[in-house]
Amino acid sequence: MARPHIEPFVDRDVGFKKFTMKGFKPGLQHKTLSIDKDNGACTMTIQYDSGFKQPPGFSYSECEMLIMEGSLKVGDKMARKGAYFFVPAGVHLPAISSDEGAFALIFYNFGPPSFQESDRDHDQADRTGFKIINAYEDLDWIMVARRTPGVAPGCCSKVLTFDEKTGACTFLYCMVPGFWQDNISYHDCAEEAYHIWGTSWMMQFGNLPTGGYFWRPAYINHGCFASQNGILAIGRTDGDLHNHFHHDPYSTPDENQERAAQVWARQRPTTYKWILSNGHNHGPHDFANPNDHYDPIKYNVADIADVHSHDYMHSLGIHHEHK
Ligand SMILES: [Fe+2]
Repeated sequence: MARPHIEPFVDRDVGFKKFTMKGFKPGLQHKTLSIDKDNGACTMTIQYDSGFKQPPGFSYSECEMLIMEGSLKVGDKMARKGAYFFVPAGVHLPAISSDEGAFALIFYNFGPPSFQESDRDHDQADRTGFKIINAYEDLDWIMVARRTPGVAPGCCSKVLTFDEKTGACTFLYCMVPGFWQDNISYHDCAEEAYHIWGTSWMMQFGNLPTGGYFWRPAYINHGCFASQNGILAIGRTDGDLHNHFHHDPYSTPDENQERAAQVWARQRPTTYKWILSNGHNHGPHDFANPNDHYDPIKYNVADIADVHSHDYMHSLGIHHEHK
């Protein structure tokens, strides 16, 4: 995922723009938080105007959404504040409408926003993982570490979606009032997060308030942390979130990556030597999962997604190479 480092960004600092992308119904406004200029994958906050209506249909990209204010009627069910959707590419949703309007965060993970009217799934769609739950009411907070080494006490999480093969994860997290952590961390994966409510402070990037967002590529130092009054946030990673902790605020991403590789050299020396000796650009064959390819092709169920990608890039005024 080739998105640039965006940190900090606060969506309250910018206005909504009408969302006029081809295929979508009128009555949507958006703020783009981050975008992958190669494939159009993006994260946005979305305002559904009151009276919005959308027929049944699907997206060509895997998509996740959290309703933060208001409500949507999805088929015959109401999705209110805290409703979390995980919708694999090509899986259709029933008709959606909103009497009061809604404010939501939406992730298009592997391709640009798209909407195709349909009352059934795309032929290549895989419903595995599809869910609509209430993230606030249906799950319990887990104190501290779901990973080792973990963060300081007072940071809790709820896992919303976890990919067993890649370790990619979407989760709610909170910091209790008075939370603090006095070390620096980086990860082998990209992570993004959005503050639903509250302000936290970080040594490198200052205060991140309500509406604050970051897209942080791998190996970038972050921390120490503190929060006076606590926060509620949603985060997402594109791989296994291992906390590499240290106390050197001046280390660079390249140095951090070397240090992370040394962890592999120490802990998995045989695999590490094999990777080195096997040459570059030749990924190992995974006999247990021969059809898995972790690139956008797996996740975007039709070439038409590329057409939508160009449409989206041009609507944002972004120069994009046509293939
Ligand atoms: Fe992190």
